[in-house]
Amino acid sequence: MTNTIKHVLSPLASQTLQDRDLTRPVAGKRPIRLLPWLQVVKIGGRLMDRGAEAILPLVEELRKLLPEHRLLILTGAGVRARHVFSVGLDLGLPVGSLAPLAASEAGQNGHILAAMLAAEGVSYVDHPTIESQLAIHLSATRAVVGSAYPPYHHHEFPGSRIPPHRADTGAFLVADALGAAGLTIVEDVDGVYTADPKGPDAGKAQFLAETSAADLAKLEGTLPFDCALLEVMANARQLERVQVVNGLVPGRLTAALRGEHVGTIIRTGRSA
Ligand SMILES: Nc1ncnc2c1ncn2[C@@H]1O[C@H](COP(=O)(O)OP(=O)(O)OP(=O)(O)O)[C@@H](O)[C@H]1O
Ligand SMILES: [Mg+2]
Repeated sequence: MTNTIKHVLSPLASQTLQDRDLTRPVAGKRPIRLLPWLQVVKIGGRLMDRGAEAILPLVEELRKLLPEHRLLILTGAGVRARHVFSVGLDLGLPVGSLAPLAASEAGQNGHILAAMLAAEGVSYVDHPTIESQLAIHLSATRAVVGSAYPPYHHHEFPGSRIPPHRADTGAFLVADALGAAGLTIVEDVDGVYTADPKGPDAGKAQFLAETSAADLAKLEGTLPFDCALLEVMANARQLERVQVVNGLVPGRLTAALRGEHVGTIIRTGRSA
């Protein structure tokens, strides 16, 4: 009997991918670092909302960082996303429609930042370029800017009405996937506190110089980043830590990229 079926030899060929015993020997290896020299910097949308007063010094600092680092600068959405969420929710739009609207607001902030750095050879690039052509862009120039939102868009998880995977989660996912040297989250506060330092419990808010994603997950109350970030940090493959720094204080971002402890260091699950 001649068997005409073509068998493709592969350790994963014949079983379900749900079988951990089968997948572990193949999938248990640490992935390679694609861009180990890359520094990813997420700029908070709230900083961009403050306009020239906050943006101009930050642009100046980024400009000076270019000879020292190769950067993927990712911007958050800020207040315009809050507005688009409220209008969209009022109209009953599903989460999968709201996600790309907020992502485009984050992109607008990216376009603004890229325009301010254009003279240094910095441009805004879209997600497909980040996915497949980041290396060549960063061979031609020292930095590019993109939207920090992950491109889940209409595939956003329907667990909540507000898209759960926002700018911080997106920045972490791409930094970890690329095996970047680091991720710095630039906020309008010194770092992470036990409570919102601008909220009603500001008096009780204590600054956390160092913490872990696991400890923050136990904290009740708000955080200066989306909660889904804690979940992805718990499962980090490359990044052992991220640092949250104040972008309103000149020099903090520069110091953070030089490895100095100037904000809140959050350890991921990889460092455990
Ligand atoms: N535990 C906390 N520690 C520090 N800041 C907090 C905390 N909880 C809430 N905040 C508040 O979060 C604010 C930042 O908000 P948010 O993270 O939404 O802005 P952003 O990162 O600039 O925006 P985006 O996510 O659109 O980029 C801070 O100004 C602070 O008042
Ligand atoms: Mg934030």
